[in-house]
Amino acid sequence: MSYSDSSAPASVQPQPETAVFQHSAYAGIHDKVVVVTGGGSGIGLALAKGFARNGAHLLLIDINAQAMADAKGELQEAFPNSRVECFQASVADEDAVEAAFAHAKACFGRIDVLLNNAGVSINKPSLDISPAEWRRAVEINFNSVFFCAQAAARHMIEQQAGVIINTSSMWGVSHSADRTAYCATKAAVVSMTKCLAVEWARHGIRMNAIGPGYTRTPLVEELQRAGRLDVEALRKRTPLQRLGEPGEMAELALFLASSSATFITGQIYVSDGGWTANGF
Ligand SMILES: NC(=O)c1ccc[n+]([C@@H]2O[C@H](COP(=O)([O-])OP(=O)(O)OC[C@H]3O[C@@H](n4cnc5c(N)ncnc54)[C@H](O)[C@@H]3O)[C@@H](O)[C@H]2O)c1
Repeated sequence: MSYSDSSAPASVQPQPETAVFQHSAYAGIHDKVVVVTGGGSGIGLALAKGFARNGAHLLLIDINAQAMADAKGELQEAFPNSRVECFQASVADEDAVEAAFAHAKACFGRIDVLLNNAGVSINKPSLDISPAEWRRAVEINFNSVFFCAQAAARHMIEQQAGVIINTSSMWGVSHSADRTAYCATKAAVVSMTKCLAVEWARHGIRMNAIGPGYTRTPLVEELQRAGRLDVEALRKRTPLQRLGEPGEMAELALFLASSSATFITGQIYVSDGGWTANGF
């Protein structure tokens, strides 16, 4: 099947080669309760679709109520056997995060998987970053990942089982000028993933991170519109000569959450078309 994702913005197309892959079926996902942060758009929406396709039930958490309502409609139409609930919150607000996970527990009785995905881009010269912009990057890209992991783990420890997948970035394992806040917060997510994986393994919790390369989402489209990303140059620099698809990131997360990955914890998996391998 040729992959296409309606959440991908039309204006970032066309791709020189369209990604072609089969959606795989993943064991161990059916009937699981999955919390997806930033589930209203982009990679988060693709994660929600991928897990629903495999029979999971979802709680979406997003700051954008309209995006989440649209996502819920799309998911319920495509996957009527999956229950989809929504909770509007900023993941940077720890009280709202506690309330969101309590809501998930009240709705579903358990929390099996957390897809800790919400994040924002910050891509500008370091001397131009205001204190507010710096704090926003740290709060949304890093602090929120901890608050959500902690809230999920409190429930998972009761169950003595759970899977947490944090969305870092290829920029969490590589470095660039004009991206200090983004690279540093995403690298911090990698470090946190390893620390918490070690700490919570004894409770049956596995935690890994995914590191998307440039992926066709509204976030990338917004940067392109603002003149802060040259998508054609990115495509040319990528050995596979294209951007990633949100659904390709979902496939990676599905594998890591599945019963094929039960010995994998504390790792980051980068899906970037070869970008980070390409030194020159
Ligand atoms: N698109 C890429 O090229 C790319 C590459 C590497 C990593 N990532 C990471 O993937 C994740 C998703 O990115 P995307 O491209 O899908 O972005 P996106 O902007 O398309 O979607 C992000 C979603 O998160 C929500 N969100 C933002 N701030 C929030 C907050 N404070 N609380 C709750 N929800 C919030 C937004 O409303 C939106 O629905 C991010 O962590 C991003 O850093 C993206």
